[in-house]
Amino acid sequence: MRLRYIIPIIALSTAAIAADATDPYVKARQALMKEFGGAMQVIGGMAQGKMAFDAEKAAMAKAAMAAAAPRIPAVFEPQATDPESEALPAIWENYDDFTTRAMTLETAVAGLETGSLDDLRAGMGALGGACGACHKLYKAD
Ligand code: HEC
Repeated sequence: MRLRYIIPIIALSTAAIAADATDPYVKARQALMKEFGGAMQVIGGMAQGKMAFDAEKAAMAKAAMAAAAPRIPAVFEPQATDPESEALPAIWENYDDFTTRAMTLETAVAGLETGSLDDLRAGMGALGGACGACHKLYKAD
């Protein structure tokens, strides 16, 4: 289990919820990202033992991410700006790479097994790594 991936993501998902954008495109992409944040709080909380393992809840969180991941490219396509946006201009300069990273996340979600706590923990590295790899390049701190 790679806790170093899990902890920053959980911190990020709670810290980032404070600001509200007004641009509709920015709102839409932030709302999509919040779905990932919420799902990762569940999965990461279980993986860290902060929350009791519940296969049904883990499967629901996985399903939410599996539905959200293919929507990333379309939702980020408009180069909308907003003072509350943390999206970096590099996204639209390297849009192919950005969408490749969205696909990496989609693959990590598909590979996540939610049947047992061990399975969940085994998938956390790839999952957290996919979030972090994109944020590192394309999201302001
Ligand atoms: C393909 C790139 C990419 C991937 C993969 C990705 N993100 Fe993001 N995420 C972004 C960008 C860019 C932003 C900033 C959006 C903005 O503010 O306009 C963001 C913002 C966020 C936010 C802040 C949303 C808000 O309230 O403003 C959270 C939470 C978040 N991501 C969680 C996650 C989690 C958890 C994962 C993995 C399960 C993930 N993201 C995967 C690109 C990505």
